[in-house]
Amino acid sequence: MQFRFSDSLKNVRPSEIRELLKYASAKDFISFGGGMPNPLTFPMNDIKQIMDDVLAQYGALALQYGNTGGLNELRTEIKTLVYDTEKIKTSEQNIIVTSGSQQGLYELAKVLVNPGDTVITEEPTYVGAISAFDANKTEMHSIPIDNDGMKTDLAEAEIKKLTAEGRKPKFIYTIPTFQNPTGITMSLERRKHLIEISAQYEIPLVEDNPYGELRYSGSRLPMLSALDKDASVIYLGTFSKVMCPGLRMGYTIGPEDFINKFNLLKQALDLSSSTFSQYVAWQYLKRGIIKQQIPKSIELYRKKRDAMLKALDEHFPDTATWSRPDGGMFLWATVDSKINTTDMLKDAVQEGVAYVSGNAFSPSRIQGSSMRLNFTFSEEDQIYRGIEKLGNLIHKKVGPLQSS
Ligand SMILES: Cc1ncc(COP(=O)(O)O)c(C=O)c1O
Repeated sequence: MQFRFSDSLKNVRPSEIRELLKYASAKDFISFGGGMPNPLTFPMNDIKQIMDDVLAQYGALALQYGNTGGLNELRTEIKTLVYDTEKIKTSEQNIIVTSGSQQGLYELAKVLVNPGDTVITEEPTYVGAISAFDANKTEMHSIPIDNDGMKTDLAEAEIKKLTAEGRKPKFIYTIPTFQNPTGITMSLERRKHLIEISAQYEIPLVEDNPYGELRYSGSRLPMLSALDKDASVIYLGTFSKVMCPGLRMGYTIGPEDFINKFNLLKQALDLSSSTFSQYVAWQYLKRGIIKQQIPKSIELYRKKRDAMLKALDEHFPDTATWSRPDGGMFLWATVDSKINTTDMLKDAVQEGVAYVSGNAFSPSRIQGSSMRLNFTFSEEDQIYRGIEKLGNLIHKKVGPLQSS
């Protein structure tokens, strides 16, 4: 039988990353592709103990259906966590527990956007946000970023233009700290400017913060949710990078009327996120294990970031540029404009190394000579070998490094 599919997934691009995960398991293959935390950071023993305890003490509840909004005890812990870490003041009714923050991205687009509505994103931006927004037929207007994050003057100009055309953006999506894919952190000045733009044009901000706790250098900047006086920012959080992604635990914080709509949609989507995972996440926070876990991840990842930066200095040509992130899991390299990184990926995979090419993260498809490099997953020696292989490939394509 020929299925007659809906148009809803027409614009959604297949994920290059998912395709690449197939290779990641091959022996000796070096993958800078996936966005995976290093399994060495997974608190296996603690989680095992918590699971046993949850089953023994709360089994009848933890294996049952739960509230759509999420386990109340977990929401209380999340409220404390976001205040302790980011000085974000919120309350339980402003928090909804999601199945990873990916679900938050999809749901917020569904709740706010009619097909064809415009939104503002960064250029480049998180590939999963592009999929979630595409699946909801959102028209993305992507604003270039530099070393200080989204160029907010350009964002304002675009918003003015769209508003004058009667197409005012529904929201502005940003990953202000250790952005995926670039690793760049938005400056305080730009953060404040975004808050002003949001208030002036009455456009909600959506800030996605999966990596904020993974800082290896520099000092913390306030999140938009902490700077905003109107409490109108929508904040996406996750336990994927500070516990493990396998439990699929995330949360969305926002104004109550928004959260109520979100709740309605979630009832249709999955009734609630996994009750059992929520009990585990609750105990993980309540027992303070997260506070022991994060410094261990930071220690491991800082070394890997430094290894990748050193390898790039040694092996990439002078014509290439790359970000020097203070945290997170990725850096972003841009090579000679003669090189198309999507085409080069096939050669790289033949050589046994992978990255994700820039255009996967580009709503406007203008990142053809860039690549995202994940530094958290591979061993340090693999990082050196993988970057050397990529450097050799680039040299082959643009000519050898000129000694000065
Ligand atoms: C910026 C950003 N947002 C959201 C997500 C989704 O994370 P999860 O669904 O595991 O919480 C990711 C995952 O890599 C991400 O990088």
